[in-house]
Amino acid sequence: MPLRVRVCDQLDVVDDAVTAFAVEGVTWPVIVTRIGGELVAFPGVCPHEDVPLEDFGVIEGGEVRCRVHGYRFDLATGTCEHMPALNLRRYKITLVGSEVWVDLL
Ligand code: FES
Repeated sequence: MPLRVRVCDQLDVVDDAVTAFAVEGVTWPVIVTRIGGELVAFPGVCPHEDVPLEDFGVIEGGEVRCRVHGYRFDLATGTCEHMPALNLRRYKITLVGSEVWVDLL
């Protein structure tokens, strides 16, 4: 059974922006954005060295680039072109009315 939590309202989501939403009991916030009209949610931490993506992440062309070392993560697949062993997790999204819920587990 998934651990599904409410993260935000769709009205709070900004296209192509790294907007972080705190979730009670979770260390890192959840980032929710819209890429080409599609909602995307992922953890607010870089998989490389645990830095906050709300401070160091930039969305460019369907990827999030971490400004610490420049690694890019494809937001459709989570893959990293610079270091294939790294993967940015993407959360499954469920809409409940206008609310955005994600499966953390
Ligand atoms: S800490 Fe993000 S790319 Fe290195």
